[in-house]
Amino acid sequence: MNLIFLGPPGAGKGTQAKRLTARLGIPQLSTGDILRKAVADGTPLGQKAKALMDAGKLVPDEIVNGIVDEALASSACAKGFLLDGFPRTIPQAVALDEMLQRRGCKIDRVINMVVPTEVLVERLSGRRTCPKCGTPYGKDSPPKKPGICDKDGEKLVARPDDEPDRVRQRLLEYATKTALLTGYYKARGVVRDVDGVGTVDEVEERIIRALK
Ligand code: AP5
Repeated sequence: MNLIFLGPPGAGKGTQAKRLTARLGIPQLSTGDILRKAVADGTPLGQKAKALMDAGKLVPDEIVNGIVDEALASSACAKGFLLDGFPRTIPQAVALDEMLQRRGCKIDRVINMVVPTEVLVERLSGRRTCPKCGTPYGKDSPPKKPGICDKDGEKLVARPDDEPDRVRQRLLEYATKTALLTGYYKARGVVRDVDGVGTVDEVEERIIRALK
């Protein structure tokens, strides 16, 4: 199954993507996680992306399209994949269509996570993330040991783009560039809106139902 998770910053895309990929046995392709790793490793890609990400702005389409095209070439994606954070603009969606056409496949479902802005802002202000595996933690999904990732024992950190002024910029980028994508995919009948408010377990069950 080939899936896209759409939704504003803080909607719970990463949280649910990690659960769903474990459940369905398909990889999560998170452009945000890939870019953060490149920044942490100080690669040329990371150097280009860092200032934009820290400011809450989108990285140029051609850079992100290249990352996804390369990731989709991996044998891990042969049985399906979950795109988390991509596409985010209409040109990215058009580029994705071309990548999938070349590989003879298509998007089966787009899960559009719907969460009110005040809830997004509250969630992002309390988020801590594992710098190694990208797992997000929050008030409703705390780590077993405070400040430490359950999966790999790394010390959790706050993301620089979760500062309030950057969150405002990210929400603006979402509203002006990414929200248009629901219309793009709705025309194909593959979009399912999912209420992202509730416990992490409740939202997961709604997503599973939406995939049927
Ligand atoms: P990216 O990493 O994709 O960030 P985002 O889309 O802004 O999404 P977030 O990771 O902030 O939120 P999420 O929806 O995954 O929520 P989460 O599960 O963490 O992108 C970062 C940056 O990279 C961009 O700004 C851009 O610069 C660049 N970039 C990436 N992709 C790009 C692209 N395609 N094009 C251009 N640039 C790109 O949850 C949030 C919090 O809520 C956590 O604390 C979590 O524990 C908590 N939570 C989750 N679910 C619940 C629940 N049900 N109840 C209560 N709390 C919950």
